[in-house]
Amino acid sequence: MGKMRTQSVRWRAAAVLASVLLVGGVAACGNSDTGGGGSKDDGKITMGFSQVGAESGWRTANTTSIKESATAAGIELKFDDAQQKQENQIKAIRNYIQQKVDVIAFSPVVESGWDTVLKEAKDAGIPVILTDRSVDSADKSLYKTFLGSDFVKEGRLAGEWLVEQKKTASGPVNIVELQGNTGAAPANDRKKGFGEAIAANPNLKIIASQPGDFTRAGGKQVMEQFLKANKQIDVLFAHNDDMGLGALEAITAAGKVPGKDITIITVDAVKDGMQALADGKFNFIAECSPLLGPQLMDLAKKVKAGETVPARIETEETTFTTEQAKEALPNRKY
Ligand code: AHR
Repeated sequence: MGKMRTQSVRWRAAAVLASVLLVGGVAACGNSDTGGGGSKDDGKITMGFSQVGAESGWRTANTTSIKESATAAGIELKFDDAQQKQENQIKAIRNYIQQKVDVIAFSPVVESGWDTVLKEAKDAGIPVILTDRSVDSADKSLYKTFLGSDFVKEGRLAGEWLVEQKKTASGPVNIVELQGNTGAAPANDRKKGFGEAIAANPNLKIIASQPGDFTRAGGKQVMEQFLKANKQIDVLFAHNDDMGLGALEAITAAGKVPGKDITIITVDAVKDGMQALADGKFNFIAECSPLLGPQLMDLAKKVKAGETVPARIETEETTFTTEQAKEALPNRKY
């Protein structure tokens, strides 16, 4: 009888030990599933971030926002500048996977061609957050969320403003368009939104449209070509402030008055763009906010903790006329 009791006590002790080990094992699996591929669980979050480049004032402000917010949130940031090249971004993401960071975040230079590397991150158990720009992957499980602007809306707001300005035009209104880099979400979407909006007035016609790569140099160079090839240009729609600012130089050099001879509409609302608008050289800006850092760090913490986050988080934005730019300029942070 005594022997049997001893055996039963031993059996129960073994069962308790087994269940402790099992629970521990499940918890460990849970960590690597939800908490990313980080090798050590010391409570610290390491984020690998692949930035598009340094092509514009907007991008500089965005990089500053991300770096400052990571420091403020106590997140260790590994940062890479891809110099507007998709292959550099893919390389950076693969490095982050190898380094077993906790979260990968990136702003994709173009929309297509990400499935393979995103699948590699998913297989390694590392969550991915898209910020600023999205990808066109059909498999939405390849990333946790997309934080950024509605670029179609920005283009539409720009187009709707023009439709209103030109509602009494009796003849053709010739528009030239400076696009962002080919294949980029903001270039595709702003073109789409603007095109849809101006379709409301058949007098409004895009007579030339080319990429200026979101840079001042690109904007200047392409605007020079537009001015040489087209006798009458009434409106310039530039997909960002920097290209618009570059175009100003070309327009002035051609002996025309920006903002008067040619109506200029841009997107972003960085300080230099707002100054041009306040000075009457630009006529309208649809805002695109680069201050995504704080929300991104917050999302990284939630994702690492295994919390469910919304699949899409849209940035709040507005538009500016000359009068509104004059008012907003003194407090503009970027
Ligand atoms: O993706 C955001 C866009 O990229 C900004 O409008 C532009 O300035 C930047 O280069």
